[in-house]
Amino acid sequence: MTSELSPVDRAKFASAARAAEFVEDGMRVGLGTGSTAAWLVRCLGDKVRDNGLKFRGVPTSTRTAKLAREVGIEVITLDEAGWLDVTIDGADEFDGDLNLIKGGGGALLQEKIVATASDKMVVITDPAKSVETLGKFPLPVEVIPFGMRTTKTLIEEALGSMDVSGRDVTLRMDGDAPFVTDEGNHILDLHLGRIGNARQMALTLNQLPGVVENGLFIDICDVVVIGHSDGQVELR
Ligand code: 5RP
Repeated sequence: MTSELSPVDRAKFASAARAAEFVEDGMRVGLGTGSTAAWLVRCLGDKVRDNGLKFRGVPTSTRTAKLAREVGIEVITLDEAGWLDVTIDGADEFDGDLNLIKGGGGALLQEKIVATASDKMVVITDPAKSVETLGKFPLPVEVIPFGMRTTKTLIEEALGSMDVSGRDVTLRMDGDAPFVTDEGNHILDLHLGRIGNARQMALTLNQLPGVVENGLFIDICDVVVIGHSDGQVELR
């Protein structure tokens, strides 16, 4: 089946298939969002159907919840689960300390809540997302619609004193309208080029009124599973 896939999808599939091995009977598992996480959900669905794997999944978006149900995974909410054994999710960038940028798919808020409520966070990815310094991928920031322009100005002012190599802030669009998250919020994408101090950036952004959450995942990820298009997988 994998020979029909593009090289990128073969890499994503390889990492997802390896990460699915972290899931054992009886576990409560956070299910990420995005194209790599979708491979994971399909792999886990196969294991439920073919191997009788029994676990409960907490999806991080309506998209993932729909797919999980379609492939036969028992879906519960985070509050029903209380705490999770493991969360497996994709990322847009990861650095040598396993810090991440997430939110390219707009699900960063639920993703961060779910990952933080887990004993272990496993990131599934391909080599192209490895960076020395985070920031080449625009940093997503979820903001409430009320006063969004003021929040954008506050973010721009805060960026003025930060160690970054770009400062453009754009509103993420979905066609002609602002993109709307599962929580009814919008996303501002921060084009920073290079984030000199990611921890300080994450704290600074979350202190601004109107900001709900930012896409920097600092000290949350435990393992990165890097899939390659030839099927090889490395763990960091
Ligand atoms: C969604 C995310 C995704 O995990 C991230 O964008 C990676 O997506 P993909 O696996 O499609 O490359 O953070 O909010």
